[in-house]
Amino acid sequence: MAGPVNGFTVEATCALEFGPGAVARVPALVDGLGRAAAFVVTDAGLRATGIVDRVVGDLTAAGLWTEVFDGIGPNPSTTAVEHGATALRAFGSCVVVAIGGGSVLDAAKGIALLATHHGARATDDLWSSPVAGLPLIAVPTTAGTGAETNGFGVVEDTCAKRKVYLGHASVRPRVAVLDPELTVGLPPAATAATGFDALVHGVESLASRGANPVSDAAAAQAVALVGRWLPVAVDDGTDLEARAQLLLGAHLAGQALTVSGLGLVHGIAHAVTAHTGTPHGVALASVNEQVMRWSAGAAAEAYARAGAALGTADAVAGTAALVEGIRVRRPLHELGVDRGLLPVLAAAAVVDPVTANAPRTPTEDDVREILDAAW
Ligand SMILES: NC(=O)c1ccc[n+]([C@@H]2O[C@H](COP(=O)([O-])OP(=O)(O)OC[C@H]3O[C@@H](n4cnc5c(N)ncnc54)[C@H](O)[C@@H]3O)[C@@H](O)[C@H]2O)c1
Ligand SMILES: [Zn+2]
Repeated sequence: MAGPVNGFTVEATCALEFGPGAVARVPALVDGLGRAAAFVVTDAGLRATGIVDRVVGDLTAAGLWTEVFDGIGPNPSTTAVEHGATALRAFGSCVVVAIGGGSVLDAAKGIALLATHHGARATDDLWSSPVAGLPLIAVPTTAGTGAETNGFGVVEDTCAKRKVYLGHASVRPRVAVLDPELTVGLPPAATAATGFDALVHGVESLASRGANPVSDAAAAQAVALVGRWLPVAVDDGTDLEARAQLLLGAHLAGQALTVSGLGLVHGIAHAVTAHTGTPHGVALASVNEQVMRWSAGAAAEAYARAGAALGTADAVAGTAALVEGIRVRRPLHELGVDRGLLPVLAAAAVVDPVTANAPRTPTEDDVREILDAAW
């Protein structure tokens, strides 16, 4: 943890609307941003649950011109982002309303940004473009990524089989609408995987080289909330208090990671997902314990804080027990990782930008050993 004497900058994140039923405020929020139209970005699976059509009904009833783009899938691709941007450009000036998990939220940032950059590709570096993207409202329907707190997305470049980071300060959501009722229908396995992502965000943020007292405060509270309520939400998805606490925990973890950056668990998981399509949280769970053990010497103070938040003296064992309890861990070979792929994953993990914040800097050989142990 960097002390206050070192100096740091924390940018404002999004405004927040929290509470059961908060999604009903979306039309007023669009109106408040001074636009008469809303372009809803979502995925087809979520649309089938009826959540999206309810919001679309509210938007239309409020007199807002509305269109839906539901062409985003899990682990969104650069191609899907480009298709969405083409549709958005045809629709015209509006607020982008992203309703979904981290995949949809991340893709929507890319869509909102590309729409104002004619001719640009999703693989282009637009971070310092002088042109702003369209304003975004984020409505997360998973309690996990915290993607509503930041202006970047992790999108898969399907040709290169790697994750690319796209984003711009202008597409950081203006408002995050956290409505726990929207997460009640998320099945137990998806609740476990997405919720575990939030826990890793909290722990990796505490241990990150980019941590500061602001990120630490958010991360410690996130670990406490997720550690306490994730097992409850997995066991009983209809427990609204558990859903609400978990959604807040995931949001705080997002606030923390946006300030501090992440670490090697994410560096490896991005590579695993790019090569196998494994859901983000499941990929994290497959290597989390091995990475934490390998990092423990360098992250002693951070892990002591994480342990305190989890109510255990040993954060590594405490996290491993939580993973077992929510049944989210699988060895890498069950996720479609051949042994021959391990060197490829190791090479990708060490150069993933998130790995630069890890408390202990890994070589490819170090990551190979970690992957062997998790295989
Ligand atoms: N920007 C960031 O800060 C950040 C941080 C971490 C992860 N990510 C990215 O987020 C993505 C993962 O997002 P995720 O874990 O939220 O999963 P997801 O968005 O891929 O959703 C997983 C599945 O759950 C379904 N689903 C979502 N909400 C539902 C609901 N309420 N009821 C029923 N089904 C529902 C979706 O249709 C999808 O099939 C990855 O691409 C990852 O790289 C981004
Ligand atoms: Zn994550």
